[in-house]
Amino acid sequence: MDWGMRNRLGRMFPGPRANTVMLAVDHGYFMGPTHGLEDPRATIAPLLPYADALALTRGVLRACVPPESGTPIVLRVSGGATVLKDDLSDETITVAMRDAARLNVSAVALSVFVGAPGEHRSLANLAALVDEGQDAGIPVMAITAVGKELEKRDARYLSLACRVSAELGAHLVKTYYCEGFERVVEGCPVPLVVAGGPRLDSDRAALELAHAAVAAGARGIDMGRNVWQSDHPVAMLRGLRAVVHDGASVDEALAVVEAAATPVARAAPRIAPGTRRSVSRGATPSPR
Ligand code: 5RP
Repeated sequence: MDWGMRNRLGRMFPGPRANTVMLAVDHGYFMGPTHGLEDPRATIAPLLPYADALALTRGVLRACVPPESGTPIVLRVSGGATVLKDDLSDETITVAMRDAARLNVSAVALSVFVGAPGEHRSLANLAALVDEGQDAGIPVMAITAVGKELEKRDARYLSLACRVSAELGAHLVKTYYCEGFERVVEGCPVPLVVAGGPRLDSDRAALELAHAAVAAGARGIDMGRNVWQSDHPVAMLRGLRAVVHDGASVDEALAVVEAAATPVARAAPRIAPGTRRSVSRGATPSPR
């Protein structure tokens, strides 16, 4: 792998565990101004110091993210369908690789729709993008999208979709967590990160999802709604960092969230001396 590509991947997976906490704010490309992301600039600004990478479209990047930001960018480059259509799989490539390079992104991302009407086109898009990414030194992240068919998210389907993505050359894959997620990891020879999906019942449930995914071999998360639709998005992201980077348990991470969410107690609790882990990185912004 060329230096440029390794450098880009390395910056997205920082720290001794080489895991990542990506923040997904790309939903507007097919959902419009969805709850929590009505004003992307306002949503992104307080969260940016706590994200290892920011996943979004070029429109929001140019309009809402300061160019001085050192946070790696994962640029969504597929689109063309909206929630007003039943079939969300009718996507095309919406950004030229030369514009991605001009934006100095760390990776490009596209949805692949295995088993949907748009399967062939999305897989061909992936293969073509990998060729262009190889030329430019820019990694490609495949997103195993299920459109409105959320019930598709089981180990059998996701194993297939992730493996196909890796076989076609994706450098990393974003998928969903599911029961039996170890099988998905085992069958996918490139790093996997998990999305959160629609808002879960509680912050605890989102932390549990991240914890289980990392325990099963995911290299981190690329989460959106369970962060910025939470009552306290920054605290939530800090709790997720504790899980992904520090190996915190769900209870420990929840303590980080609760402490960070309390206006008078900004410092998150440290784990008792003598225990294996520290939550310090979860409690503080990443060093960018
Ligand atoms: C939208 C996406 C999202 O980035 C992805 O689903 C992660 O966000 P969430 O955690 O809200 O599911 O790919 O198509």
